[in-house]
Formats: sequence, structure tokens, C-alpha cells
Amino acid sequence: MTVMNRQLLLKTRPEGLVSLDNFDLREVPVAELADGQALVRVLYLSMDPTNRVWMSDIPQYMPPVAIGEVMRSLGLGRVVASKSKHYAVGDLVQGLVGWQDYALIDEGKMGYWVKLPPKPPVALPTLLGACGFSGITAYYGLTEIAPVEAGETLVVSAAAGSVGSIAGQIGKLRGARVVGIAGGAEKCRHLVEDLGFDAAVDYKAEDFKQQLAAATPDGVHVNFENVGGPVMRAVLSRMVNGGRVALCGLIANYASGGRPSDDYSVIIVKRLTVRGFLAFDYKDQARAVQDLVGWVVGGKIKAGETIAEGLENAPTVLNRLFQGSNTGKLVLRVAHDD
Ligand SMILES: NC(=O)c1ccc[n+]([C@@H]2O[C@H](COP(=O)([O-])OP(=O)(O)OC[C@H]3O[C@@H](n4cnc5c(N)ncnc54)[C@H](OP(=O)(O)O)[C@@H]3O)[C@@H](O)[C@H]2O)c1
Repeated sequence: MTVMNRQLLLKTRPEGLVSLDNFDLREVPVAELADGQALVRVLYLSMDPTNRVWMSDIPQYMPPVAIGEVMRSLGLGRVVASKSKHYAVGDLVQGLVGWQDYALIDEGKMGYWVKLPPKPPVALPTLLGACGFSGITAYYGLTEIAPVEAGETLVVSAAAGSVGSIAGQIGKLRGARVVGIAGGAEKCRHLVEDLGFDAAVDYKAEDFKQQLAAATPDGVHVNFENVGGPVMRAVLSRMVNGGRVALCGLIANYASGGRPSDDYSVIIVKRLTVRGFLAFDYKDQARAVQDLVGWVVGGKIKAGETIAEGLENAPTVLNRLFQGSNTGKLVLRVAHDD
């Protein structure tokens, strides 16, 4: 029986938020496997702010997705057919699966694929969030880029999201006073009551700057920055001289299509160290994942996910990251793992 593969191909580059109109949804038969190939049934897509950046023709850390190309995306799947020596039917894999039902592993081509334990100790979506790239990003950001020490004040922006929620909890494990910034009272409540942050500040509130000042009486030693723009400016203005910034992301800029200039004179005035980083530069991810899985399984950090359904909904689901309607890791279930 011919297996059909639904794929979302980038048709036009979005301006602002993403729409299904920016994509062609096509259905093509899966080709016979050649030697060295394996077929992966995609189970979960990782919905990442960087997906939106990949859609824009701007300088970035990977080439933008070309018009007519299957939308690039990290995800998880199971090998369902194999003519590869390295992958067997039933293997659980993580890789750049793309917005489609089936992805092809081809040993003859460069590709990013990692084999995972077939029965992992945490739920599959957690392998894309707290125990996956989000957790790894938070881990290296606070242990190597801007290590936070006991007694220091750490401020995390987009704190109720995937990276931020883990960064804040790692900060607590390291003995810091942790202040989260998030949009709305419910997310702020969640940070303090469910995740154990010391304080949370609503950046949408009119008195945001006053709230931030009240929550950081000793200033800010480390800023784990996920947002940029006015949120970042407010945090930088609270930093102590010699403070450190792990510049993880600037989500406030991604859907705006441009690169707003900003006034960074505060970095000079406060002699700050600002270090940008990319989690995927860390090749030793096993150490981070081992610690993260241990913390999640041991109940030391809480993993949270927002799970959406349906491949065809990928464009609108991605927008949730920019509208703030996700808590924890946003994933899209493409198929159930039976
Ligand atoms: N450097 C790396 O290697 C690396 C790796 C992964 C992710 N990142 C970066 O980490 C950041 C978080 O990514 P994530 O995957 O964990 O996403 P996420 O935090 O789960 O979701 C994005 C959150 O950002 C907040 N947000 C969106 N637009 C905003 C704006 N204009 N101002 C303030 N807050 C805004 C929203 O929460 P509210 O409801 O609070 O607004 C939203 O829920 C992104 O900047 C991403 O690019 C970097």
C-alpha cells in the first residue's frame, strides 16, 4: 500500500504572524527506501521561536528555509521502515524532521539525527522541552555562559515559557533569588506557586518597572534574556555593576521582520558582560540531559508542556509563541505513538 506524506512547504515569507496561506500543503507518496535510508513517522514537532526566524530572509545562524522547501523543524519520531545499518524499526529518534508526516534519514547526506532510548524515563514531549533543547539551553546558559551563584539575584524573561521555566528552576537549584518576568497574572502566579520562583513580574502591567524594582531590591546579578526590547532594557537598568547577561533570545524582534536598533549604552555604564550563545554549539549534551532527566524524574524541577494537535495547524500553533498562549514547552502532536 502506498504511504502518503503530507508536507507543509514554505510558499511566501510571512510578515508579522504566520498563516496557513504562507504554505502549500501537499500530499506525496513516500518513495521506496534505498540502501542506507530509514523512514521516520513524525510524532511531535517542536514549536520554536527560531522557526519564525528561519522563515525570514535575514542573516541568521542557519540558512533561511527556501521558498518551496518543507518547513524546517526539530521533532521526534519512530523509525517505521529501514534499510539502514544504524537505525532499526521501532527506534525513537530526534532530528530536523520538518513539518511533515514522514521524514527520511539518509546516511549518505548530512543531517541532524539523535537516537533516543526506545522507552525514555520521561514523556515524549518532555524530551523536546525540559529534557531536550530548551533544558539544555537553560542549563548551559546558567552554568557556562553566565553562571549564577548562591545568593545572587537572577532575572529570567519569558519565564513561563519552555527555556525560561527551566532556567528559573535551575537558578533556584543553584541557590539564587529568582525573579521571573511573564505576561499576565496567571503566568506570574504559576511561576511563584507552582515552580517556586521567589517573585514574578508582569511585563504587561502599567507599573512593570516599579514591580521589577520591588522584586530586585539588591539589583540584578544575572539576566537570562529571552525577550529583548523594552523588557530587556528594564532589566539591564536594574543590573549591578559588573552584572552578567546570558543573551539567549530576542523573541520580541522575531515576528517584526526587522532588526530594531537599540540603545545599549547601559552595557557600558554598568560594565556588563553580555554573552550570546547557541545551545547547539554544545556538543556534550549528554551531561546536561543526564542532569535534567535526573532533576525531572527526582521532582527537583517541573516540566510543563502545552500540546497542540494536527500537522495542518502548525503555522497557527507557532503563532502562540508570539501571542503568549503557551506555558512551558509548546509541541504539536502529529501522530500518536502506538
Ligand atoms: N540561544 C539558543 O540556543 C536558544 C535555544 C532555544 C530558545 N532560544 C530562545 O529562547 C527564547 C524562549 O524560547 P522558548 O522556546 O522557550 O519559547 P517560550 O518561552 O516557550 O515561548 C515564547 C514566550 O515568549 C513570550 N513573548 C513572546 N513575545 C513577547 C514579547 N514581545 N515580549 C515579551 N514576551 C514575549 C510569551 O510569553 P508571555 O506570555 O510571558 O508574553 C511566549 O509564551 C526565545 O527567544 C528563543 O529564541 C534560544
